Amino acid sequence: IASHLLAYYFTELHHDQVQKVDKYLYHLRLSDENLMDVSMRFRREMDRGLCRDTNPTASVKMLPTFVRSTPDGTEKGDFLALDLGGTNFRVLLVKVSENGKQRVEMENQIYAIPENLMRGSGTELFDHIADCLANFMDKLGIKDRKLPLGFTFSFPCQQNKLDESILVSWTKGFKSSGVEGKDVVNLLRQAIKRRGDFDIDIVAVINDTVGTMMTCGYDDHHCEIGLIVGTGTNACYMEEMRHLELVEGDEGRMCVNMEWGAFGDDGALDDIRTDFDREIDAGSLNPGKQLFEKMISGMYMGELVRLILVKMAKDGLVFQGHTTTDLLATGHFKTSYVSAIENNKDNEGLANAEQVLRGLGLEPTTEDCIITRRVCQIVSTRAAHLCASTLAAVLRQIRDNKAAERLRTTIGVDGSVYKNHPQFARRLHKMVRQLVPDCDVRFLRSEDGSGKGAAMVTAVAYRLATQHAE
Ligand code: GLC
Repeated sequence: IASHLLAYYFTELHHDQVQKVDKYLYHLRLSDENLMDVSMRFRREMDRGLCRDTNPTASVKMLPTFVRSTPDGTEKGDFLALDLGGTNFRVLLVKVSENGKQRVEMENQIYAIPENLMRGSGTELFDHIADCLANFMDKLGIKDRKLPLGFTFSFPCQQNKLDESILVSWTKGFKSSGVEGKDVVNLLRQAIKRRGDFDIDIVAVINDTVGTMMTCGYDDHHCEIGLIVGTGTNACYMEEMRHLELVEGDEGRMCVNMEWGAFGDDGALDDIRTDFDREIDAGSLNPGKQLFEKMISGMYMGELVRLILVKMAKDGLVFQGHTTTDLLATGHFKTSYVSAIENNKDNEGLANAEQVLRGLGLEPTTEDCIITRRVCQIVSTRAAHLCASTLAAVLRQIRDNKAAERLRTTIGVDGSVYKNHPQFARRLHKMVRQLVPDCDVRFLRSEDGSGKGAAMVTAVAYRLATQHAE
């Protein structure tokens, strides 16, 4: 009887705390109608980005990538790849060989980019990249070979061809001077020339979303969307050339890097953004920019939770009204904590909440832990549902393009939030299926899309170049 009563007590406790938080965070909980509305707004933004007349003032830029075909399995050769803009900076060697079934092998090395380089001068940043490349080639004994290289550069870029990529603006944690408005291929070539001890052939620059779509497209030919929910969030998809008014030609399709992180930068989401969202933005490296991304991605999720807990503490709803220096310090509530706290296995989440809060110098009660978990749930659920609403718009666009009643398609996905958060993927899938019930969507986790994807695009470009030469 005692344990029965205790269980009853805990259920009641959960229920009360959950209700309290839900009421307090009412504005962060989006209804199905809200989400459908956001989805419709985003569809209009896509249109504005695609059309020549509206593109200059559109916040969602819908950037052409000049990637027109996915791998067909006949690609081969050795390729170098650079991956900049995710959690890690990496250099890779990818061997693509055509032995009946195409195989991809790799060597890869992670290099650190110190914060002072992320926010210092662009020349120093590209010198560092060239140094890492040299170190990698030295180690593998390939410095005397002039290999083709694919560069995954995960920022908004204006492209006029595959091997020219002008940075529109830095996003996420980067803010190097003198790079915006410049062609990153040129900057890298110059840095390599300054060293003078090796040479490479830069063939393609791609966004991480494109790499993700390409690697998944290799295993599943229905794959026509690439999605990233990691440090940042963004997606790409195959659009009909006739809709891409910024690019010459009407035949076939081209991959579009949407840069959906910038959705809302013109005020389109002001009615659903909260004071917490405004606070995150005000304290960021790029105020007023990437407002959709700031509601969703891993760079901001933990910080959102922290800001909410601080406000709740100040209002006396948690921690008996106490705050600590750690709780008050920007960045001290990591996004990985959100994942740990939402772990549902054997109530591990609550134990993790207690550990996290103690780590921040607090002395949490059981109620505090339950409340903290609820805050995490609300923030990460909103993120998953917002992603679902923009994805739904993309799915409808592709369905309409094909004039199909039902769309069968595959989405390649990558990113630390999608892969590490215990509930994110499930909530995202569920909401997408609810918002577009007439689409059969398969979500395919990409295996290292940013790394292999760059090599894949490079390999395809190489195959096409040789075919044309023949
Ligand atoms: C940011 C970048 C975008 C990238 C995304 C995911 O939104 O602007 O290019 O795809 O992060 O890394």
